Amino acid sequence: MQKNQLAGHFKLPPVDKQLDIHSTRCAKAAFLPDRLDLSHNLPASIPAFYRHFQRRQVLDPVRKIELIHKKIDVYYYYQDIYIQVNLKKKNGKKMRLGIISALHEEQQGLMEAMQDATTTSHGGRVYTHGKLWGIDAVCVLSRIGKVAGAVTATLLVEKFGVTHILFTGVAGAGDASIAVGDIVVADALVQHDMDASPLFPRFEVPLSGLSHFPGDHAMALQLLAAAHGFLEHDFMDVVDAGQRAAFKLQQPRVHRGLIASGDQFMHDRHVIQALNAALPGLVAVEMEGAAVAQVCFELGIPCAVIRTISDNANEDAATDFLTFVSAVAAHYAFYIVRRYCQGLAEHGF
Ligand code: ADE
Repeated sequence: MQKNQLAGHFKLPPVDKQLDIHSTRCAKAAFLPDRLDLSHNLPASIPAFYRHFQRRQVLDPVRKIELIHKKIDVYYYYQDIYIQVNLKKKNGKKMRLGIISALHEEQQGLMEAMQDATTTSHGGRVYTHGKLWGIDAVCVLSRIGKVAGAVTATLLVEKFGVTHILFTGVAGAGDASIAVGDIVVADALVQHDMDASPLFPRFEVPLSGLSHFPGDHAMALQLLAAAHGFLEHDFMDVVDAGQRAAFKLQQPRVHRGLIASGDQFMHDRHVIQALNAALPGLVAVEMEGAAVAQVCFELGIPCAVIRTISDNANEDAATDFLTFVSAVAAHYAFYIVRRYCQGLAEHGF
């Protein structure tokens, strides 16, 4: 098969777009490896042809200097997903983690655990800065919806200097295989209520050429490990038998996939089934993640979204949601973030 046939088959972008370098962030020399073999950083789902293409993208010393001088970061483009390559500690700056939740219950435990906490009110939100298990962190409640998520993420970066953003919260199941009590980590995020068709394809953010915004690969892997650790070691102690029975939480699982966000609480099985058919790989629906991911993508900040499934996005969604958040999800968020921060601290972040 010819390369252009393959490109058509996999919808590869034109060659000059395959390596797309367009960030304004600087990677310090010490943190750039001499040879950057990206094949290790790519999800296994990427077709073999493309992995082969990626394997050839190694940095020779000249290219490395060029990257440093132009203060640019590296993005790879695959289908309509940009893959951001992590160059570890940007500018040699120590990590400052922004943690956003939509609801008070989801963040209360973290606020209580924070050491040396100081608070700043700005734009109707309270930003709490301090240490979480050794990690420099800023916690904030975004409130609900895409605009709320976007403005919170922007301020975390521009005013509070965070280097990474983590969104924790709850979501409705985006697929019949996903159950209440499962945990989902975003590979990519899409705004399901974005539709400027016929001017632009459904879901595409006009004039960006993108519908799917990436979750940071390294953060996602660390969160997956934290989520598995939580289910294996903490879950039975933290969620009591009564709650497990009430919410039919038998053997919760961890999933990775596409999260769709929109300014709607989804509560109709027909709507969620249609969305699932329109968005392959959909695992969850919520109301902020994709907006945060777009802001982070545009500002060159790694971000991750982790959600506990609170309901099936059907007619029972509202009842399940309210009780689940306070009784169960708050525990999930606390223990997973604790494991995540402890893991980061062990690796010297
Ligand atoms: N967050 C939790 N459940 C949700 C749902 N069903 N729709 C949108 N956001 C949610």
